[in-house]
Amino acid sequence: MSKFRILHLSDTHFRLKYKRQLEKMGIDYFPPHVLETFLKTMQFQGFDMVVITGDLVHEGDAADYKAFQKLINQYIPKSLPIYYALGNHDRRDHFYKGMKGLETPRNQEAPRREWLYDYVIDHDDYRFIFLDNFEPESRTAQISDEQGEWLKTQLERAQQDRVIIFMHHPLDILIQEGLPYTEVSDLTRAILQDSKLLGIFAGHVHMNRSTMIGTTPLWTAPSIYCGFHPADQEMYYTNHLGFNVITLDGQRIDVFSDIITPTKKYYRPIK
Ligand SMILES: [Fe+2]
Repeated sequence: MSKFRILHLSDTHFRLKYKRQLEKMGIDYFPPHVLETFLKTMQFQGFDMVVITGDLVHEGDAADYKAFQKLINQYIPKSLPIYYALGNHDRRDHFYKGMKGLETPRNQEAPRREWLYDYVIDHDDYRFIFLDNFEPESRTAQISDEQGEWLKTQLERAQQDRVIIFMHHPLDILIQEGLPYTEVSDLTRAILQDSKLLGIFAGHVHMNRSTMIGTTPLWTAPSIYCGFHPADQEMYYTNHLGFNVITLDGQRIDVFSDIITPTKKYYRPIK
């Protein structure tokens, strides 16, 4: 079995125009330019898949999603599949319209199951499950029991014995103390202990973190929009931008967290 490499990006928060938002944050760069430069310079050879775990666009409309997808597709080779999860700053109706060409948004009056963006991708050796774990109406991060049941079915039906979950909100990791954790029942937590499940990958916290959900490891990817960093009892926006490279090798998972900015220096090669 050969290695399977995934480029894990997150929290791109793309907008064609940000109005005064960046100024308010004190950010002195234009995030889409950083994203474009990254896409232009990234070596995509050797990757098998690209995943972007949500907050693709920052509260934008269909035109933002369209432009975001165009930018992504312009630089990522066509042979490389790209999969998306949705986050709390993604507006589902504009995502569906801008990136899926669905004229009418999935009717949000309809049962949640009909419009949430949960899906499964099978590769030879691995099953990848994408979970939409944000409830826009109540603005809560959650894996509902209904989703837990769906997840259980997808795990049971997997022909492969290696399953990976991608979602926006991590479990048990907070950006800052006092914020609410992602809601998940004990029943669903038990499903996340399935022996086929190798790991969970998320975003949202704009930094690379890891934890264990029982026996299942979870990693988050940094953001390509802005970093969050605590200092002097405050939380700051920073220019610590990056991405993760996930290498799957049978049951083994290697996660390498790389930075885009601040620029790293290469000294002499190690001999
Ligand atoms: Fe975000």
